[in-house]
Amino acid sequence: METPQVKFYYKNTTAEVLGKEHGITKQQFNELAKKTEPLIKQLNNDRKAKKVRYRDLPYQTDTVKSVKKIAAGVKGCENFVVLGIGGSAMGNIALQTALNPYMYNLDEKQRKGPRLFVLDNVDPQQMRSFLDWIDGRLDRTIFNVISKSGRTAETAAQFLTICSLLEKRLGKNSLKKHIIATTDAKEGTLRKITDNFGFRNLPVPDGVGGRFSVLSAVGLLSAAVCGIDIDNLLAGAERMDKKVSQKDFYRNPAAVNAAINYHFYKRGKRISVMMPYSYALKDFADWYRQLWAESLGKVKNLSGKEVFVGPTPIKALGATDQHSQVQLYRQGPNDKLFTFLTVQDFEKDVEIGKAPAVAPELNFLSRQKFSRLLNNEKTATEYALLASKRPNLTIAFDKISPYTIGQFIYLFETTTSIAGLLFGIDAYDQPAVELGKDATLALMSSSEYADLAKKIKPVMKIDKNFII
Ligand code: PA5
Repeated sequence: METPQVKFYYKNTTAEVLGKEHGITKQQFNELAKKTEPLIKQLNNDRKAKKVRYRDLPYQTDTVKSVKKIAAGVKGCENFVVLGIGGSAMGNIALQTALNPYMYNLDEKQRKGPRLFVLDNVDPQQMRSFLDWIDGRLDRTIFNVISKSGRTAETAAQFLTICSLLEKRLGKNSLKKHIIATTDAKEGTLRKITDNFGFRNLPVPDGVGGRFSVLSAVGLLSAAVCGIDIDNLLAGAERMDKKVSQKDFYRNPAAVNAAINYHFYKRGKRISVMMPYSYALKDFADWYRQLWAESLGKVKNLSGKEVFVGPTPIKALGATDQHSQVQLYRQGPNDKLFTFLTVQDFEKDVEIGKAPAVAPELNFLSRQKFSRLLNNEKTATEYALLASKRPNLTIAFDKISPYTIGQFIYLFETTTSIAGLLFGIDAYDQPAVELGKDATLALMSSSEYADLAKKIKPVMKIDKNFII
């Protein structure tokens, strides 16, 4: 039996479909191939030289063993709570939405593991409501704190709050039983605390940035605990690794995807909309936003020249956003490239009810499948966009499974690396995020950031003349 695949379809970006003004001609594709092929080679070499560490995550057998061991050790807990933010939370959310049922947390019959919560913020109302609910359930709850450094203010605040609560309700010794840390193997604040308290722990691999870490222990533990087949997830990534390592541009979906995005950016289409036609994939559009934005939004190129480069990623959901965004997408500026995500076989389906005799105009829906309606809505939107000469790509999942999700993750991570090389920037740093992190510490009166606090305060003083 053929294993399910993720396929990349790009005809709707060509001049053949869109005309020369908005589409890519054969000659332009060949120029892109010429420019991109050496970069595929460069990326393959960088990977061999251990400079692109996320590329080796499908093969991390030791980590997978440790993840499974820890996951088996928490079997039977009722709630599993991830404390983290950004790259240390977003992949966990995306995997859960994609690979577990919509009602997972609410319906015991629909789940194979504990309820999963990923806090991913420091909103006081959200936190209060969550703490009020979890308070009486702490003895049946495991917390997985994920932070490479342990100094990220949001994660540290969540963590300190949970530690105090555990200590108050269940005693100091309970921390060791209820907390699992995922952090740097050797250094940092969370490593120090972990070693001191003797928490069970997993490594955030060296050289893998948060947004590229979903296939590491960062994303794997909560997935494994919640019944997701992590072997197949990694097998899917491995399968895609073969495809995206191919030197021939036209056979390499990451290369063609990156090149198309790069080409349209240069032609003024600087907004990339990812629009899944699948609720399960909606949080992967969020994950993609972080991957794309943090990796490609850079002030300087590799030679140090100011370039202010970066496509803006936007998340949309089909069919919901047809009734919200498509007016703009069709008749607003032609400055976007669309990437649809579709699913051929939803595996679970529902038949639409029968139209009443008084409304024969609804007969076209009677006894039809929801999957047919949703997929036709995608084709309809694609057609409507083409009528307005809007370029679009489709990533088609045969079905949603750990194996195809692994392929998708690896495809977009490698696409990001190749796009970074095309733009000539460093896709793996995020210097602009750091200032905001430091400024938060300064504003929260961290003594180490007192000088920065002095700089911030006059600039951020509210000027009453501008309040209406
Ligand atoms: O992609 C990134 O690097 C960020 O989103 C980080 O993952 C995020 O800021 C959390 O960092 P840390 O894991 O150090 O707490």
